[in-house]
Amino acid sequence: MQRVLSGIQPSGSLTIGNYLGAIRQFVELQHTADCYFCVVDLHALTVPQDPRVLRQKTLEVANLYLASGIDPQLATIFVQSHVPAHAELAWLLQCMTYYGELGRMTQFKEKAGGKETVTAGLYTYPVLMAADILLYQTDLVPVGEDQKQHVELTRDIAQRFNNRFGPALVVPEPMIQKVGARIMALDDPLHKMSKSTDNPESAIFMLDSPDAIRRKIKHAVTDSGREVRYDPENKPAISNLMEIYSLCAGEPLEAVADRYNGRGYGDFKKDLAEVVINRLAPLQARYRELAESGEVLNILSAGAAKAAAVANATLAVVQEKMGLVRAAARL
Ligand code: TYM
Repeated sequence: MQRVLSGIQPSGSLTIGNYLGAIRQFVELQHTADCYFCVVDLHALTVPQDPRVLRQKTLEVANLYLASGIDPQLATIFVQSHVPAHAELAWLLQCMTYYGELGRMTQFKEKAGGKETVTAGLYTYPVLMAADILLYQTDLVPVGEDQKQHVELTRDIAQRFNNRFGPALVVPEPMIQKVGARIMALDDPLHKMSKSTDNPESAIFMLDSPDAIRRKIKHAVTDSGREVRYDPENKPAISNLMEIYSLCAGEPLEAVADRYNGRGYGDFKKDLAEVVINRLAPLQARYRELAESGEVLNILSAGAAKAAAVANATLAVVQEKMGLVRAAARL
């Protein structure tokens, strides 16, 4: 059975981009692979967080995993900081990653954007992500397009480790969907939809109310002309909305294009809002039940114990290979 690992940062409210690009794949994979899904709270700390909000968002992401259909009987759900091996392996791998490699990461360049107060954690962030993946001897990493470069760096680090110390780490493959790998912002189809946006109207959040979804889609920017046609190069805004439609309705893009052939943007947007609302409604209802029950804490604690057993075994091999003397007992 193939091993799968992925993670989501609790750095804001999850968007439909996170759902369509990542979580949707997680739900499918749990039936055929040995899956580990974590809430990467240590990654969220790379930019300033309000501690109270971080705690709340960490549980929110875990509950959204469950509400979306990830079954803790099939997949292991846990919080990254509950398994200390993540931070430990990250340090060891930092000592095998080059300064220049991290400086070339486009996400770092975008987020740092010449600011003075960029943390060292933001810079070394991709190494922590590599540790997340390599600890579980992961074969496949389901992610959106924006994480591809980080998974490629993870592959380089794993290969470097294996070449230097002998085979120890599985070299993972990114798993990126054809449609939905990069859902764009509603106010700017040239930028990806993001949970850490300053403009909440630019994103549809998984927990948005029906009215908010209708309003946001109504005001979403469109392209010139009025034809509903899938053409990401020339019609990036409408093509993005068509991707959202196709994935939420479970219909191929061609079927969506045919249905709206000869009809204008207004009709299409009105229907799109209802398609999104219908897709999210059952999930939101489950979320509310889960959030009330508090059950998630038990699930996360069982998940952390299962994850730690796998992670600690890999960490021990890495420590041994790198020449660390193992303590007689782990304190
Ligand atoms: P994060 O928290 O930014 O996003 C979580 C997942 O959602 C995908 N995604 C999108 N997909 C399509 N369209 C969008 N607009 C969109 N926005 C986000 C992301 O690609 C991601 O799959 N560094 C990672 C978290 C991470 C991780 C890992 C992932 C930490 N360790 C180990 C995989 C394996 C991140 O910041 O994702």
